[in-house]
Parts: sequence; structure tokens; C-alpha cells
Amino acid sequence: MRQRYYIEDLARYVGGEVTLEGWLAGKRSSGKILFLEFRDGTGFVQCVASRGDVGEEAFAALERLPVESSLRITGTVRADSRAPGGHELSARSVDIVHAAQEFPIGRKDHGTSFLMDHRHLWIRSSRQFAALRVRAAVIRAARGYLDSRGYVQLDTPVLTPSACEGTSTLFETRYFDESAYLSQSGQLYNEANAMAFGKVYCFGPTFRAEKSKTRRHLIEFWQVEPEIAYADLDDIMDVEEEMVSEIVAQVLRTRQPELSILERDIGRLSKVEPPFPRVDYTEAVERIRAAGLAIEWGEDFGAEHETGLSLQFEKPLLVHRYPRSVKPFYMEIDPANDQVTLSVDMIAPEGYGEIVGGGQRMTDLATLERRIEEEGLSRADYEWYLDLRRYGSVPHAGFGLGIERTVAWVCGLPHVRETIPFPRMLYRLRP
Ligand code: 4AD
Ligand code: MG
Repeated sequence: MRQRYYIEDLARYVGGEVTLEGWLAGKRSSGKILFLEFRDGTGFVQCVASRGDVGEEAFAALERLPVESSLRITGTVRADSRAPGGHELSARSVDIVHAAQEFPIGRKDHGTSFLMDHRHLWIRSSRQFAALRVRAAVIRAARGYLDSRGYVQLDTPVLTPSACEGTSTLFETRYFDESAYLSQSGQLYNEANAMAFGKVYCFGPTFRAEKSKTRRHLIEFWQVEPEIAYADLDDIMDVEEEMVSEIVAQVLRTRQPELSILERDIGRLSKVEPPFPRVDYTEAVERIRAAGLAIEWGEDFGAEHETGLSLQFEKPLLVHRYPRSVKPFYMEIDPANDQVTLSVDMIAPEGYGEIVGGGQRMTDLATLERRIEEEGLSRADYEWYLDLRRYGSVPHAGFGLGIERTVAWVCGLPHVRETIPFPRMLYRLRP
């Protein structure tokens, strides 16, 4: 392939000439000089075009050119500490690949609904670009953490015959002559995989038909779900804090330009390293009450409870041992207190709420059969899952890390809709 130059690599070419291929993100003129804000998908750079250098005709064409036109710009790379990204390009020639029509997204404040309708174009803007690059880095770091420690990635089905996380949020679809449901979590199949491969993870889209219109809920979201045989609640809390710390450290290491576009307070993120504070549900309830919020023991935490709790800590918080009433059937019961489960949620700091959910799985066949019955689930659908407790049942544990909520926290974004290229939300299926 021919030599290609990218904005993110410009440091290598200072003083030399490069050709950049990209789009016009913005421009300003001082009469004799045009300042072109140029993007190529790897970053943004300012290109300076003077009438003398690029020629009268090209200069006049550039002056008229709408933003988001596509261009090839050849010029000399200059180091400039004041420039975003640290470089500037002095254009020698500009080749207009496509003169765009008037771009619908301008500098003015558009409403969210307008921007969401134009999501396919909105993702070109600098903040959206930055958030989605961070998303890719978060995914890469999460998988890198697991891959480098011997976890086997095994994919779990999206089309499933039964529920993992309760029947109230199932997405139903036709599967020839029967009903199927879009997976809410790969966990149950992950458990089977863990009994065959020891340490595994799945990574994929999961679905919840939740009638929740909040800044933390998507209908389709992505989870990284590790599952470990011969592991207990404490083991899984250790893995969670190590993995989340590595994700944050890697984003800080590799995505500085994006974090600065997002104006993220880096100081907050640099504090994220093991150990994370750990409190049990009962203490968490007391802390929520101490913060002036109402809650009864046995109730699940709402967004405001999680926020009240997270503001009491600088690092992500591990809340363990939730009551049976608020956790799914598969959670192991605490041998020290049969009212609570060996479950754990990680609550991100700064009010971002739960980013990880997991725990130790139930090992005993008879107890699991009883829990399935209590939840009113169809026993027949879970026979294969019960087999895991018939043939070599062992303590095991795992968790699911929600990519979008993690990205929202790492980026400091108020809403998860900006953390995935094309969010599926309540009442929004398009584009
Ligand atoms: O806490 P959840 O429901 O846990 C499970 O699904 C487990 N079966 C995972 C496991 O143990 N393998 O979901 C896990 C994470 C949450 O902590 C949250 O980050 C994210 O998935 N999540 C959502 N993200 C966006 N929109 C939604 N509607 C979400 N529901 C859960
Ligand atoms: Mg949860």
C-alpha cells in the first residue's frame, strides 16, 4: 500500500512534507490566510493556507467551501506547542475531493433530538470523536487485560430461549415456530464455558427492554463478562478492581488528546488504583441514609442512592452482599446470612452509578432448583444450566462490565447516548 500519513503520527514528520486525506471541520479567514481545521479520523490539525502558497484559484475555492467537504492537503509539518495536538500544517497544495452540501450541524447549539436524528453526521464532531475513541480504548484495555492473563474468549449466543436477568426486560422475537429472546447477558453460557475452559470471557451486545428513560440506560449495550471456575466473591472483587484500574490507566496513557478535547479532570482518574473501598449492602444503606436519602433495607438502589453513595468516595466503590430480593436466582447465598447473596456491584465515582455487576454463582443443585421455582422460571429451559451443578459443580464467580457506563464515567459524559456510535434507546431506533 502507498505511504499514508495520519494526523496522530505528525510528530514523526516535523519539518517534512506530508499529504493528509480528510475532511474540513471548520475554517476561519484573515483575508490573506485561511485557517483550515482539518480532521482525518485520527485527530484534528490546523492547516494554514495562504493565497501565495496554494494559488489564487484554489484559495478562492477554499473560501467558498462548506465544512465537511473532503480534501487532500499537502504541506509541511510544523511543531507548535500552542496548537491542539502540538502541530500545524503549512499547506502547499489542496485538492478538493468532494465539495459538500451545506452541513446540517453548525456551530450553534442544536437540541439533543436534532443531534440524535443526525447521529450519523454528529459522530464527526470533536467531542463525539473523542468519546468514541475512548470507547475503543476501553474495550481494547478490557480485552487486553483478560487476554494477557489466560482468559479464553468464547462467544455466547444473542438469540436465547430464556432469561438470565429476570423476565421483565426480555426482548422477544420470533424464532421460526417458537419465541426467542435477545440475550440480556452471556453469563449462563459463560458458566458452562468456564466449566470447560477454566477462565473465560464473552464480549458482545446485550439487550434489555427496559422502559427506563434515564441517562444510564440503553436498550442495546455491550458487556465484557469474565467467568472463573474455582473463584469466590473475594476473588472476583480483586479481578474487578485490577481490571478497571488497568482500563483507566491505559486510557490515560493512550488517549490524552481525546481526554483533553473532553476537558476531563484527569486528576480524578489518576486516583483509580487498587485497592477500592468495599462496603456491604447493609453499610451502604446506612451511608445512603446518612446522606439524607430515604431507603429501606431490602430495597434495590436507585440512581439517586448510587449517586449519594459514590460521592462519599474518591475511587470506585465495591458494594457486596445485596439482599436476595434484589438479585437474580443464580446468586450464591451467603453462608453467614441467608438473607443476602454473594453479589457485588461496582459503583463509579462522581455520581456515575453502577458500572459492573457480578458475584459468586450458586453451586448446589437442590438450592438452585428451588430458586428457579421461586422466581417462576420454566424449569425445562434451565435443565442444561442445572447440568453444570450435576457434573463437577465448583464454586465459581464472574461479572459483567458495562462498556457504555464505563466510557461515560471515564470521559466525564453526563449521558450514555454519546458513548456508542448508534445508541438504541427507549423510543429511538433511528438512524
Ligand atoms: O448488573 P447486570 O444486569 O449484570 C449482569 O447482566 C450479569 N449477568 C453480568 C455477569 O455477572 N456476567 O449488568 C452488568 C452491567 C451493569 O453493571 C451496567 O454497567 C451494564 O451492564 N448495564 C447497562 N448499561 C447500559 N444500559 C442498560 N440498560 C444496562 N443494564 C446493565
Ligand atoms: Mg446490576
